[in-house]
Amino acid sequence: MASFDPWDRTHLPDPHALYRAMRTDAPVWRGIGPVTGRPIWFLTRYDDCVAALRDSRLGKDLERHLDAEQVAAERALEAGPLEPLGRNMLFVDPPDHTRLRRLVAKEFTPRAIADLEPRIAAIAADLLDDLAGRTQIDLVADFAHPLPVTVISEMLGIPIEDRVRFRRWVDVVLRGPVGSDQQTLAGMEFIAYLNDAIESRRSAPRNDLLTALINAEEEGDRLDHTELLAMVFLLLVAGHETTVNLIGNGTLALLRNPDELARLRAEPSLMATGVEELLRYEGPVGVATSRWAFEDVDYGGVTIPRGEIVIPVLLAANRDPEVFPDPDRLDVSRDPNRHIAFGSGIHLCLGAPLARLEGAIAFSALLDRFEQIELAVPVGDLEWNEDFFLRGIRTLPLDVA
Ligand code: HEM
Repeated sequence: MASFDPWDRTHLPDPHALYRAMRTDAPVWRGIGPVTGRPIWFLTRYDDCVAALRDSRLGKDLERHLDAEQVAAERALEAGPLEPLGRNMLFVDPPDHTRLRRLVAKEFTPRAIADLEPRIAAIAADLLDDLAGRTQIDLVADFAHPLPVTVISEMLGIPIEDRVRFRRWVDVVLRGPVGSDQQTLAGMEFIAYLNDAIESRRSAPRNDLLTALINAEEEGDRLDHTELLAMVFLLLVAGHETTVNLIGNGTLALLRNPDELARLRAEPSLMATGVEELLRYEGPVGVATSRWAFEDVDYGGVTIPRGEIVIPVLLAANRDPEVFPDPDRLDVSRDPNRHIAFGSGIHLCLGAPLARLEGAIAFSALLDRFEQIELAVPVGDLEWNEDFFLRGIRTLPLDVA
């Protein structure tokens, strides 16, 4: 079988060449995880990825499906102070998943999110006002990061002044070094911070999402304290790191495709299809979270044995030529565009309406504010996060006028 190394950091600037080769030569490919030494199956064809994301034979709750010995080995790997953060909806199956998701779903419907539009636009405008007179900016630090963090912090009711600390905690908790003291410490600080925020809101309730979740916890069987902590953690992480990457990767993709940037400027009505295309073309989430095979499953004529891990590669699926004509071309008017940047099935991104709105507001505000936007460094000098799960650049230095 063909050999690939998806963990090799040389693929970070352009993982598409690797995924194209995997999709063509070995669309159901078995690799060995570098940290755990466990077999991991990568799916790179669109149809296989969608099927896997919707397949109830693949899931999260290993206790209910796998042998005691395997569960014990897995738990040993996960043991540690960060374990409670994993008890969130993204890492559980129904019925727990259904219960946890239902508790927050109403806050994230397209209708509820549409009400936030004026506030998100005002936050974007304020951030750009702060840049007045500057001819050089770092789009990530100055705009792409603070915008979604401010939005999700305000929704939850967490002070925005703490955003620099969040960024460091999220960075270290998500990207390690895995198992390092540094990661454990950052995780413990983050947990202590969230516990304090929960306690202070318990004594002084407000009209925010944190208070709503605390009320659900106090109703007993709906949400226990660990689940509450894990939920707030998930919303904070999912609520900003991904959208930071949509704005950062999306702006970079437009700068590398100046004709498409010019079309978007000339025809603002293309923004809706433009955002979908940026999600497809240079998606913020490289691969879906892993699933366990609860029984032997057949994908593309290959049997994935029970107890092994499956990872659908979203970036690869979104450039599958069977579904997207001329997939490596950015086309801001592409329609239809059935990308799976937000996943599919029961874990389909809860925040998709919010992310779409933030993306559209961010790109419109940037184009309105600056007549000229250019990369201030060669593309090859850009530093990508060392993370094949969340795909994003660390800084995006721009010359603006
Ligand atoms: C462009 C930005 C975003 C992208 C590309 C994105 C992508 C995704 C993907 C691919 C999944 C499914 C992962 C899997 O099945 O393994 C997911 C799940 C999730 N996302 Fe997002 N996301 C974005 C923004 C957000 C925002 C703003 C929030 C809101 C707070 C959010 C909250 C969530 C939650 C709670 C889940 C878990 C849903 C569940 O398990 O039922 N995401 N997201």
